[in-house]
Amino acid sequence: CIGFVPTMGYLHAGHLSLLRAARRRGGKAGKVVVSIYVNPTQFGPKEDFPSYPRDLKRDLNLCRTEGVDAVFAPRDKEMYPGKTGSRRCESADGPRFDKRGYSTYVVEEQLSQGMEGAARPGHFRGVTTVVAKLFNIVLPDVAVFGAKDWQQAAIIKRMVADLNFPLKIVVAPIVREPDGVAMSSRNKYLVGNLRPQAAVLRRSIQVVRQTVAIAKKPVFAPKLKARVRQIVKAAPAARLDYVEFFDPETLKPATKVAHGTHMALAVFIGKTRLIDNSWL
Ligand code: PAF
Repeated sequence: CIGFVPTMGYLHAGHLSLLRAARRRGGKAGKVVVSIYVNPTQFGPKEDFPSYPRDLKRDLNLCRTEGVDAVFAPRDKEMYPGKTGSRRCESADGPRFDKRGYSTYVVEEQLSQGMEGAARPGHFRGVTTVVAKLFNIVLPDVAVFGAKDWQQAAIIKRMVADLNFPLKIVVAPIVREPDGVAMSSRNKYLVGNLRPQAAVLRRSIQVVRQTVAIAKKPVFAPKLKARVRQIVKAAPAARLDYVEFFDPETLKPATKVAHGTHMALAVFIGKTRLIDNSWL
């Protein structure tokens, strides 16, 4: 059994929990494969592709310590071959590569419309494309994704079902810092007084969860969104990108929020964009 964990590297405790989940799934005879690749086609033109944290040596050491059996760390020219080398170009539907060398993309058309898909045009097209390619290269039996990217995991599950990939998708729970901030490679950007402000995402979720728990009937989503806006505003460097309430499987937005509804939000802390989500 091959258990696969696709990552963009700069591994943290959240990733390590995915590796362990892959190991558990595969049993004693199983092999764990990790990919480390900062996929250019899932970043918008103004996003942090150039500055995304990278440290392959450190990642390889961590994989070794964790007993990972194989690491796949391709270069752009291996993933997106192009006549001009691997030159990233922009287009109306998202970043792409030199068409003379690479011109096939995988697009999920339903679950990828809202939230991250709306805020980051072309992002999921890049994700589904690279993940499909990685599945075809690694040929895993199981692939593990983190629940922090809830929408991404839902889209990958849909892609696997729709395109008959012969593997099982496992979604592993979010791992949090002691102050509740979800682990993310982008937390590295949060220096000085920005770091404590990242707690507004978790705080928003907790306040909403409590409001929903004590309410006698479902709560209107706009009311909860206004409350989240207030909480985020209280942190001077924070700016709410979106907050959404939705069905955890179909991702269909909910107008009335009750126990079992899912919540997701994206917040800029300074220039760093963070996401979080939770079942309510
Ligand atoms: O979640 C990530 O780190 C990336 O989106 C993934 C799945 C490795 C694809 O590049």
